Amino acid sequence: MRYIVVGAGAVGGTIGARLYQGGHEVLLVARGAHYAALKRDGLRLVTSESAETLDIPAADGPVPTRDDDVLILATKSQDTIAALAPWPSDLPVVCAQNGVANERMVLRRFDRVYGMCVWLPAQIPQPGVIAAGGHPYSGMLHVGRYPQGVDDLGEQIVTDLGKHGLVARRSPDVMRWKYGKLIGNLANAAEALVGHAPGLSDLAERARAEARTVLDQAGIAYSTPAEEAEVRGHKVDMRPIEGVERGGGSSWQSLARSSGSIEADYLNGEIVLLGRLHGVPTPVNEVLRREANRAAADKLPPGSMSPETLAALIDGRSAA
Ligand SMILES: NC(=O)c1ccc[n+]([C@@H]2O[C@H](COP(=O)([O-])OP(=O)(O)OC[C@H]3O[C@@H](n4cnc5c(N)ncnc54)[C@H](OP(=O)(O)O)[C@@H]3O)[C@@H](O)[C@H]2O)c1
Repeated sequence: MRYIVVGAGAVGGTIGARLYQGGHEVLLVARGAHYAALKRDGLRLVTSESAETLDIPAADGPVPTRDDDVLILATKSQDTIAALAPWPSDLPVVCAQNGVANERMVLRRFDRVYGMCVWLPAQIPQPGVIAAGGHPYSGMLHVGRYPQGVDDLGEQIVTDLGKHGLVARRSPDVMRWKYGKLIGNLANAAEALVGHAPGLSDLAERARAEARTVLDQAGIAYSTPAEEAEVRGHKVDMRPIEGVERGGGSSWQSLARSSGSIEADYLNGEIVLLGRLHGVPTPVNEVLRREANRAAADKLPPGSMSPETLAALIDGRSAA
């Protein structure tokens, strides 16, 4: 089997590197300066314990495909459609992404779609370098066929992922885990907007409480933090990496890189969408979605807003 990682950034680069170290054939697909560095120097994987350069083949677009190829999609959700467009729809696709919208988007074109619930703290400190902060494993990955079940290929993917530096679990109800993870990721926009200011945890909890009301009303099952903590144990604890400052999560990183876009439509926006479908007001996630997009479009740095300003915008929206 050859694993083609489409969007070999923080998460995709870590998964690609660990599969490669486990003895698998891997191709990294990237773009821009990151692609140029991967192609020229190989992928440099740094962790709290080691730093090594891996000579993994890289491409900046589609390559001739084979029957045994598996696509690991690891772009941000807003890039899913464009990133998969050039790839043939008979290949299996594993969505190694946050949110719950990607699998459904991909299933329109691709017959075999797998969800992956990704606990894997990572970032790109500079082009060609992936810093993976999880210890002793870089990440824990739940994998299952979408919408549910685990087939033979899913079992094989779990076995392959678990060979080096990652914990992989077969998960027939992978979307239940991804809805649980989505609740946690509603804080991403707040963290990007206010940084690690003291008011962050209150804002995050308001977004999460609203989401639980929406999901309950919609009859959607989700894993709980206690369940997640029990499964994860101390397998993926965050460890500092020498010379790498972990400023924040993946939406924080989008603002820090002035990338011009952010994943909020597929995180907070998912709750807004479900709220509208099921008649539940979602002022907290509406404001977080809107303000995160505004900050990304205006290329503002992370932490550009005070928690008080953000809370006042939410209160204003709630009153309206
Ligand atoms: N980072 C974390 O700690 C973490 C943890 C758990 C889950 N996640 C989730 O994992 C997913 C990926 O996040 P990430 O943080 O790994 O993002 P990332 O570091 O930005 O990596 C995504 C990569 O995909 C590239 N890309 C986008 N469109 C492409 C295309 N058409 N062709 C080739 N490459 C393309 C991006 O390039 P550009 O930079 O040029 O856009 C970027 O290098 C997200 O859903 C995120 O929420 C992240």
